[in-house]
Amino acid sequence: MDIHLRPGRPDDVDAIRAFTAATFEWGDYVGERYLEWLEEDDSLVVVATDADDRPVAVSRVILVSATEAWFQAARVHPEWRRRGIGSMLGDHMISWARDRGARIARLLTEDWNVAAIAQVTKHGWRPVARFAYVTQELGSEPQPTSNGGRRVPGPERLIPAPLAEAEPAWMVWSTTGAATVAHQLFPIGWAFRAMRIDHVRAAARRHELWQAPSGWVIGTSNEQAWHVSWVATTDGDVRRLVRAVVDRAADLDAHRLTMLVPRWEPLMDAVTDLGFAVSPSTVYALALTA
Ligand SMILES: CC(C)(COP(=O)(O)OP(=O)(O)OC[C@H]1O[C@@H](n2cnc3c(N)ncnc32)[C@H](O)[C@@H]1OP(=O)(O)O)[C@@H](O)C(=O)NCCC(=O)NCCS
Repeated sequence: MDIHLRPGRPDDVDAIRAFTAATFEWGDYVGERYLEWLEEDDSLVVVATDADDRPVAVSRVILVSATEAWFQAARVHPEWRRRGIGSMLGDHMISWARDRGARIARLLTEDWNVAAIAQVTKHGWRPVARFAYVTQELGSEPQPTSNGGRRVPGPERLIPAPLAEAEPAWMVWSTTGAATVAHQLFPIGWAFRAMRIDHVRAAARRHELWQAPSGWVIGTSNEQAWHVSWVATTDGDVRRLVRAVVDRAADLDAHRLTMLVPRWEPLMDAVTDLGFAVSPSTVYALALTA
């Protein structure tokens, strides 16, 4: 098989868009993000090409800290699958990350993705954290206290949290089952890394840390959606906090509320009861030994 690996180039974009357009039922994001990935520091976009230098597969790795690598966007042209190309890309990115000092590599895959799971577990990757992408189209949530069809806000409001709230938020998160299920990881976008209190402080400085009596969340606005990437609360308070999150998103006139959060049972029970769609995914990790 005449396959070569090389760094991705801007002129590969059309070929990559073409073979990734129908990766999933909903399409793919790789074609849209490819060119910006080529510009990013501490990262590698690797392309596998056929004998005529035409791209037939692509993947990307980025160092999310000095010791942590994040693998993303493995895509093999449907006609070129099961020939070891995904594995070649993986091996290449592992060497790249290890040579740059990474000690651990991680990736996320949805739990239905049998091919991706089989491929990575064959190469020694192990599941470490259970997450879920949960979504709700706003206005569609059940109305537990509805009044003539109008949404009645819950008892609590989320307000921006000052920097001083980072420490209590961190302490609550660190001692709950959420941190355990998350394996102490949290996402920035879709890239997970080990969480430190400094990440909570940074969120407060960006005005993305929110508080209510029942807990704290990190939430950001993007493309008419409100996105929550971190939830710190207790078993007993989680429902009130999720209710406050829904109200906050509605107040912002967001069309959609999304969360990428650990599958901590009290949190999953709360989002399910409030009518969120839940899509389970798992973070896999591989130790990069010398
Ligand atoms: C996942 C993907 C990248 C794998 O690429 P690939 O080049 O086909 O994988 P490889 O040929 O290196 O497979 C290596 C091993 O993985 C396992 N595997 C790969 N695809 C599989 C499938 N569809 N079903 C079961 N096992 C599979 C097998 O053990 C295989 O070894 P074998 O062929 O000797 O049995 C490819 O299927 C793909 O592009 N899928 C769509 C995009 C995607 O889901 N990406 C991952 C997102 S997290």
